[in-house]
Parts: sequence; structure tokens; C-alpha cells
Amino acid sequence: MSEPSPTGGETPPRPSRASLRTAVVWEVLRDALDRRVKATGTDSLDILDTGGGTGNFAVPAAQLGHRVTVVDPSPNALFALERRAAEAGVAERVRGVQGDIHGLFDVVERGGYDAVLCHGVLEYVDDPAEGVRNAVEALRPAGALSLLAAGLGGAVLARALAGHFSEARQALSDPDGRWGTGDPVPRRFTAEQLTELVAQAGVEVGAVHGVRVFADLVPGVLVDTEPGALDALLKLEAAAAELPAFHSVATQLHVLGEKRG
Ligand SMILES: C[S@@+](CC[C@H](N)C(=O)[O-])C[C@H]1O[C@@H](n2cnc3c(N)ncnc32)[C@H](O)[C@@H]1O
Repeated sequence: MSEPSPTGGETPPRPSRASLRTAVVWEVLRDALDRRVKATGTDSLDILDTGGGTGNFAVPAAQLGHRVTVVDPSPNALFALERRAAEAGVAERVRGVQGDIHGLFDVVERGGYDAVLCHGVLEYVDDPAEGVRNAVEALRPAGALSLLAAGLGGAVLARALAGHFSEARQALSDPDGRWGTGDPVPRRFTAEQLTELVAQAGVEVGAVHGVRVFADLVPGVLVDTEPGALDALLKLEAAAAELPAFHSVATQLHVLGEKRG
């Protein structure tokens, strides 16, 4: 398993700690993009990354040869995105646009994209259902939707293992899955809630993956100092990601789908 890499992954680079956050999603996404390339018969897809931030996925996708539009409300993120794309040599294939998923069609075209990414955004928006509907409306027929959001169970488990048992119980009963007023995440989801949002927006759910099932729970020092530990953990994350039993304890949930019609 490799993290997003400049080469598209011919010789996987030595995995870094950051790859624990991105590897599972990147593998699933890269396969989905490959399938769209084959289905559309073009080498370069049009990709929209809503809330794409500084380009964790947008820049590697552009390095695969695709054209990526990032819509994000943060000027700082867009500035960092521009610099990162330039450093990676893909500035001409990455376009940053200031905007909001709720006013998406003020800044991008409806039905204009082969793939739409919405990663780490639904937690923060005013209306997640409208956010997903807009992401889907931006897709061409049969286009791929890649949705990543914070999972409820992972937060409950993390609070409990840190000894914050009341906060863990609070997250379980809170309608937004928050463990208290100090919780920095405004909203979390179960796999069922996410797949329902996606299905209601007109998307056929293809796969659900649990992301960071173990990574946030194991001591960092073990991963950093034990020879081979990071690689073994990445492989374990990849194996567990596909198993429904682990979806309910993952820090994040990834849903991949295809627009109907
Ligand atoms: C946790 S970051 C995720 C960044 C990127 N998608 C990734 O996976 O690395 C959340 C991003 O969502 C953006 N965001 C927040 N509210 C948004 C909204 N209403 N519409 C679009 N993007 C939004 C933030 O500016 C930030 O860049």
C-alpha cells in the first residue's frame, strides 16, 4: 500500500506517518479513477474536490494526469494548494476556487465532473444532505462520488480508551455524535447514515471502508521506533478497512458510489 505519490505509485515510496491518514482512501479512490478512465475512454478526467483544502488528494490526483478543481472557502488553504501544486509540477492541472459546497453552482458547472470528492467536509457544513446533493449534481451520469467523514464509533472508542468514559457515553447519545462542548468536530456519522445520505442523493453505493481503525489508538512511539511497524500497521488498516465489523469503530468512514442514470 502506498500513500499518494508523485509517480502514481510505480515504485512505492517509503511509507510515512501521514500515509496512515490517507492510504486506504487513496487506494480506493485511485482504483475508482482508473475505472472511470477505462469507462470514459479518456486519459484525463475532470475531478471536483469540494472542501479540498490544501490538496491532500487534489494534488496526487493531478499527478495522475487529471484536471482537478478545488472549491474551498478558506483563502489560506487555497494559497497553500497553489504552492503545493506548483511544487509538484501540476499547477496547470489544479484550479483553486473560493466557494462553499452550499453555493457550489455559483462557482462550478452542474453535471461537469467525472468524479467528485467530498472529504472531511460534511462534519462542518450547515446541511449535510444538501452538501451531498450538490456534490452529486456536479457529477456526470455514472460519475464517481468519494465521500469521507468522521465516524461516530471511532470517537466513542477513542474517548473511552483515554479514560473519558462519560464523554464516550455522551457521544453515543448526542444526536450529532459529539462528546462535549470542547469537541472540535461538529458532527459525526454512522456508516448507515452516510450510505443513506448518498443513496437519497441518487448514488448507487459501491463500497464502504473504515479508515484509521487502529492508527489513532496505538502508541505513536511504537509506530515510530519498532522496525517494520508502520508498514505492518498500514497493511492491517487495509485489511480491516473492508470488513463491516470494523466500520463501527473507525475514526473515519469512506463511501464510494456511482451516480445513477
Ligand atoms: C478537514 S479539512 C479536509 C481537507 C481535504 N478535503 C482533505 O481531505 O485533506 C476540511 C475542509 O473543508 C473546508 N470547508 C469547511 N466548510 C466548508 C463548506 N461549507 N463548503 C466547502 N468546504 C468547506 C475547510 O476550509 C477545509 O479545507
